[in-house]
Amino acid sequence: MLERLNEIEAQALKELDQVSSSEELQTWKTKYLGRSAELGVISKRLRELPKGERPAVGRRVNEVKSALDTAHDERSGALRATALEHTLRAERIDVTLPGRPVARGRLHPSTLGLRGILEIWREMGFQVYDSREVETDEYNFGLLNMPPHHPARDLWDTFYTTEPGVLLRTHTSPGQIHVMRERAPEPIRVVLPGMCYRYEQITARSEIQFNQIEGLAIGSNITFADLKGTLNAFARRMFGQNVRTRFRASHFPFTEPSAEMDIECFVCGGQGCSVCKSTGWLEILGSGMVHPTVLENGGYDPREYSGFAFGMGPERIVMLKHRIEDIRYFWGNDLRFLEQF
Ligand code: PHE
Repeated sequence: MLERLNEIEAQALKELDQVSSSEELQTWKTKYLGRSAELGVISKRLRELPKGERPAVGRRVNEVKSALDTAHDERSGALRATALEHTLRAERIDVTLPGRPVARGRLHPSTLGLRGILEIWREMGFQVYDSREVETDEYNFGLLNMPPHHPARDLWDTFYTTEPGVLLRTHTSPGQIHVMRERAPEPIRVVLPGMCYRYEQITARSEIQFNQIEGLAIGSNITFADLKGTLNAFARRMFGQNVRTRFRASHFPFTEPSAEMDIECFVCGGQGCSVCKSTGWLEILGSGMVHPTVLENGGYDPREYSGFAFGMGPERIVMLKHRIEDIRYFWGNDLRFLEQF
């Protein structure tokens, strides 16, 4: 019996040497130390042995058992160490590698243009006033001196909602009425930025949506000279101290008289080029003295108050400044375009 125990021990230790994974180790353990292992069977059957042999066999069983236990624990520790070393090597990260760059967001060229222009008006004492994009027919046209069937409405065709008389504004001018009705009879000096919409064929030169910045000044004794002086001051800040401007007579139903302002082409310096179409001038805004009917609709008595208004398109100014040839780039969402700003 003692011999058998020696054999078991030798065999078990030999097999343990071959074990190379925790699964194999488990199998080995079940085989040699498990409940139905031979070692266990022998110790359960000690009673069946002749009395004289029992103590020696019993002692040897315990010795073999503890030798195998110890060998198992050593092996298990060694296996775990190898496994750890393996994962450390396989999953090693090099913390000295440069990180992945995070893509930085940026402002849309329209927003940049809008903010640059608003900054100038802010410095000149104009408050930014937010007005709604969804308007009524009355505010977009009627109160601006364009009653139903007025031919000027054709210039500003728009998108209509399913609600009769509710539409997307075609210009920021309806904001004039909102401010006046809120402030009358106080003096006003505001700029109204925001998106406008028109029902148009989309081409390189016209889009169905674009920003405008409206300006409005109301008070006593405001004259056309104030309009010219203010817009010239703006042009100098926007395009440089030496920029030349000119005013051309024009017509808008909500201003009288009306004028469009041109600036000298900053690309060719007035010589004539493709940007200014050989005229030497670039049109940048529409303006005029607020029409008496509009003043009245806003709650100001035209015999006591007067004012001027203007409207400019920031996208157009950005286009001129950066020589962008196609307005469709603005809403085309092409990163190659957007990332240039
Ligand atoms: N609302 C006009 C347009 O969209 C511009 C304008 C504004 C003209 C204010 C005069 C006064 O063309």
